[in-house]
Amino acid sequence: MYPKKQTLAVDRKHIWHPYTQMKDYAGRDPLVIVKGKGVKLYDADGNSYYDTISSWWCNVHGHGQPKINRGIQKQLQQLEHVLFAGITHPAAAELVSRLQDFLHPLLCRFFFSDNGSTSVEVALKMAFQYWQNQGNRTKTQFVFLENSYHGDTAGAMSVGGMELYHRLYAPLRFKSLQARSPNCRSCTHRKTEFTFTAQNPGCQLECFSSMEKILRQEKDRLAAVIVEPLMQGAGGISFYPAQYLKQLRALTSQLNILLIFDEVATGFGRTGSMFAFQQAKVVPDFICLSKGLTAGYLPLALTVTREKIYQAFYSDDTSAKTFFHGHTYTANPLACAAGIENLKLFKQKKLPASQAAVMRHFHGKLRAFKDLDFIGDIRYLGFIGAVDIVRSRKTKTLFAPESRIGFQIYVQALKNGLLLRPLGDTIYWFLPLVVTRKDIDIIMTKSRESLLAAIASADR
Ligand SMILES: Cc1ncc(COP(=O)(O)O)c(C=O)c1O
Repeated sequence: MYPKKQTLAVDRKHIWHPYTQMKDYAGRDPLVIVKGKGVKLYDADGNSYYDTISSWWCNVHGHGQPKINRGIQKQLQQLEHVLFAGITHPAAAELVSRLQDFLHPLLCRFFFSDNGSTSVEVALKMAFQYWQNQGNRTKTQFVFLENSYHGDTAGAMSVGGMELYHRLYAPLRFKSLQARSPNCRSCTHRKTEFTFTAQNPGCQLECFSSMEKILRQEKDRLAAVIVEPLMQGAGGISFYPAQYLKQLRALTSQLNILLIFDEVATGFGRTGSMFAFQQAKVVPDFICLSKGLTAGYLPLALTVTREKIYQAFYSDDTSAKTFFHGHTYTANPLACAAGIENLKLFKQKKLPASQAAVMRHFHGKLRAFKDLDFIGDIRYLGFIGAVDIVRSRKTKTLFAPESRIGFQIYVQALKNGLLLRPLGDTIYWFLPLVVTRKDIDIIMTKSRESLLAAIASADR
C-alpha cells in the first residue's frame, strides 16, 4: 500500500476528483482513507470519521461487514467476471430471485448495468423503444421534475432539473418537459414552520397541478414520466408526500404513459421502507436500482420492469426489436455476490422495520435543532435527515454564497471526526442502516458542535 505522502503526491499531480473544485485543495490535502469498519472510516494517521453520508448514499450495513466480505471472497474462488450476453451465472440468478421477495410480482424482469446513471439510461431507452416496438412513433418524450437528479450521463442529464448541474449542458440534452417540483421545503402552501416528515396538515397537493397539466396536454407525445420517489436527493434532500406518487400513478395509467421511479438513492431501506415508492402503495412500470444494491461494496445496477415491457421486445424481428444496450461489467459476479449477502442481511435482521425505533430517535435529535436561529428548515424520513443553514430564520436572511457556509461546516466537521458532506447550504445525514442509538447520539452531538463552531467563525 502506498504511504500517505506518496498517495498525496500522486493525487495532487494526476487525479481529478468528482464534484470537486480542485482549487479548493490547492492549500489543503484531501483525506487519505485507508480503512473502514462499521460506521467509521479511518485515515492514514489513524483518525476516525463517522461516515454520516454512507459514502455517497450507498453503504448499508457498515464498512467491512464480515458476511459480505466472505460472500465476495467465496465468489472470487469461482469466477471474477464473464460477459453477460448469451451467458448467465448463478450469482446473478440468486440475486434476482432474492430481490423478487422484496418486490411486487408485477415487477419481474431485471436488466443489469453498473451504476445509477446507467440504470436510468436503460429505463429511458426501454420506455422509448417500448412504444417504437409497438409501431407508435409519436410517444417519444419524457417528463421530469424541477430540482430532480438522475445521474450525469447525457440521457440522465436530459431528465435532470437542477440548474447548477444541468444548465451548461443544455445543448447536449434531448428535449424533455419539466413539471414543478412537489418538494414541501419550498412550498408556499406549507403551514408548518418546518417540513419535518413532509406530511403537512391541510395540504391539497397543489403542486400536482403542473404535472397534471403537462400529462393531459401532451399525453400522445409522452413515453414516460421519471421521478425520484418521496425525496429529491441531490436537489437538497427535499421530501414530498406519498400522495403525490399515488396521483401520478393513477393519472399516468389513465393516460397510457409509462412511469419510472428512480430508487437509486432511496432504495434499500433508507427511507424506512425497503423502497420509497412502497409507502405510496403503487406499482410503477420501471424502477432503477444501484448504490445500496451491493450494500455500497461494488458497482452494480438493475432496471426492473414489467412483463408487458419485456414482451414488447420479444420477437423474431432481431434488428428492430432487440434492446441494443449493454455494459462490459453488466452483472459482475463479485458485485452480485455482495448483493446476495446484502439481501440476506435484510431478511435476517428484518430490516428496515427492525430499526424503526432508532430512526425515530434520529428524528427527535433533528427536531431538537429547532432552537437554533441559523436552522432554516428541518426534514427527515427514515435514516435520512437534512437542515438548511441560514443567517437567521427569524429575519429570513441567508448567508451570502461567497461565505460558503456549507463547505465551512464540512471542514469543521472533519476536525470533529465526522464526514458531513453538504449540498450547498444544506447539511444532511444519510445514515447506514447499521447505526445504533449511541452512534446517533454521538453523531448529532458532534454535528451540533460543528455547526455552532462554523457559524460562530462565519459571523465574526
Ligand atoms: C436518484 C439518483 N439517480 C441516479 C444517480 C446516479 O447514480 P451514479 O452516481 O451511480 O451514476 C444518483 C446519484 O446520486 C441519484 O441520487
